[in-house]
Amino acid sequence: TVYDCSIITLPKNHQINGNLTAVSNGVEVPFDVKRIYYLYDIPGGISRGGHGHKDLQQLIIALSGSFDLIVDDGNVKRTFHLSRPNIGVYLPAGLWRELNNFSSGSICFVLASTEYDESDYFRNYDNYLEWKSLK
Ligand code: TYD
Repeated sequence: TVYDCSIITLPKNHQINGNLTAVSNGVEVPFDVKRIYYLYDIPGGISRGGHGHKDLQQLIIALSGSFDLIVDDGNVKRTFHLSRPNIGVYLPAGLWRELNNFSSGSICFVLASTEYDESDYFRNYDNYLEWKSLK
C-alpha cells in the first residue's frame, strides 16, 4: 500500500567546498540498484509517470529543483513534495504513480530495482485496479 512508501534521508557530507551524498545498495536503499534514469528538461505544466508497476521498486530523488510525486494503491493517494537532493521517497512494488508540478530546471533522479521491462508496466489505470483487486 502507499503506507509502505517511506521518506529516506540520505547522508550529506557537508563541507565548505560543497555537499556530497552517496547511496549504497542495501544501506540507504532497501534493494539492489540495477538501473538509474533521470528526467530532465521537463516542460512546464507537464505530468509524467501516470503508470503502475508490478515488481519494480524505486527510490525517487529531486536532484535539482522540485516536483510532486503522487502514489496511489487503488484505495489511497499520497503526495510527496520533493525538493532536496538528499531526500528520497522509496516506492515498493505494486503502486501507481504520477509526477507533476516540476519546477523549471528540475531533475527527477530514479534508482530502480530492475532493468527496464515494459511488461512490468500498467499503462491503464483500470487494468491496474483489476490486478490490485485480484492480488
Ligand atoms: P516512461 O517510464 O513511460 O516514463 P514516464 O512515465 O515518466 O513518461 O518512459 C518513457 C519512455 O522511455 C518509454 O518509451 C520507455 C523509455 N524508457 C526506457 O527506454 N528505459 C527506461 O529505463 C525507462 C524508465 C524508460
